[in-house]
Amino acid sequence: MRVLIVGGGGREHALAWRLAQSPSVKAIVASPGNPGIAALGQCVAEPATISGYCDLAHAYSIDLTVVGPEAPLVAGIANEFRRRDLKIIGPTAAAARLEGSKRFAKDFFRRTHIPTARSGESLSEFGLPVVIKADGLAAGKGVVVANTASEAEASLARLGPNVVIEEFLDGEEVSFIGLCTGTSVVPFPPTQDHKRVFDGDQGPNTGGMGAYLDPGILSSAQAGDIMERIMLPAVRQMAKEGTPFTGFLYAGLMMTPDGPKLLEFNVRLGDPEAQTLMHSFRGDLGEVLRDAAGESLPTLNTAPPSVSVCVVAAAEGYPATPHTGDLITGIPDAEATGAVVFQAGTEQAGGQLLTSGGRVLGVTTGGDTLQIAIDRAYAAMAKIHFRGMHYRRDIGRKGLNRAREARRW
Ligand SMILES: Nc1ncnc2c1ncn2[C@@H]1O[C@H](COP(=O)(O)OP(=O)(O)O)[C@@H](O)[C@H]1O
Ligand SMILES: [Mg+2]
Repeated sequence: MRVLIVGGGGREHALAWRLAQSPSVKAIVASPGNPGIAALGQCVAEPATISGYCDLAHAYSIDLTVVGPEAPLVAGIANEFRRRDLKIIGPTAAAARLEGSKRFAKDFFRRTHIPTARSGESLSEFGLPVVIKADGLAAGKGVVVANTASEAEASLARLGPNVVIEEFLDGEEVSFIGLCTGTSVVPFPPTQDHKRVFDGDQGPNTGGMGAYLDPGILSSAQAGDIMERIMLPAVRQMAKEGTPFTGFLYAGLMMTPDGPKLLEFNVRLGDPEAQTLMHSFRGDLGEVLRDAAGESLPTLNTAPPSVSVCVVAAAEGYPATPHTGDLITGIPDAEATGAVVFQAGTEQAGGQLLTSGGRVLGVTTGGDTLQIAIDRAYAAMAKIHFRGMHYRRDIGRKGLNRAREARRW
């Protein structure tokens, strides 16, 4: 089959890389794609409209479309494809409200009895810290964890009346991603992101500075609990409400002493989590996605997944004001160590690879143990260079600590 990938970041490069190894996949087209994806298939400019993607799918004889980012999903790309009888993996606009509107999501969690932070209408109902979330898509900039009353008041004034106010939950965050068919969910192994820009979870939030996949992040009882209390109820309730969910459903969880609580759903793969998921995936991804798009439950390889680690290299000034146009060297040397380098903010210009965005690339490795995968990722990263490059040195450390101290949640 011929697959169209919508998007052009590290997540989409990772999808393209794994799909390129699928026996069922004959060709890959990406829009807009990136220089990394261009080595695996054809990249075409982003159409100006949602229906432009359908035209593109027709023009390139596409059998299946996979959507990376949330914006086209929230804008209804899956509705348009289905209306025109084109196969796509991703939720309709109505189902994508789970990510597109925090108020819709929070009301949905409540009526579905999904464990989540207590929410309310005014700051006075909560102690400190308190969490304030803007309703709509905000590219990771719409959530404030306020530590003081004046910070909370100021955030409320800035974000406006259309917000969710909720209690602060203490714990470690886990990303739990499943592939949904409208009525059921196939879970992927658990992953953990690193949102803050600096080591030790310091500094401002980013799109994600690295991730690791390790089955040991959750016990099988915990993973089962998340399926039974969060993922399956959500998918069943969406179907019951006439807005069935197809595609990747990402639960952002806080592991609290009272069990897992849902912070949010995303309606697509997380990035960088996807880089580790694709790296450790075994089997024919094309077949799995085609099955899910056709609403039949795909079978995943049930062999215990290998550990995978992704370290993101970011541009100088990221996340505030990333510098672009810097020459990137050393990717072939990094890949010669066995690592896979997924490109994100890169562009090809005059025969050279230059930085073109905040998160420039992700170095992804696997191994029998987390420590081995981490060491391999940093050894490969040491081969790569661009001016102003920075990356976290502690990706996966929480996982090492957890293994050392034995589980503490
Ligand atoms: N109730 C909460 N308690 C503690 N931290 C929270 C809570 N809600 C969100 N956060 C923090 O804020 C981050 C962003 O919130 P999230 O709901 O995931 O929104 P988005 O990803 O759209 O910005 C989370 O990853 C988490 O670190
Ligand atoms: Mg989030």
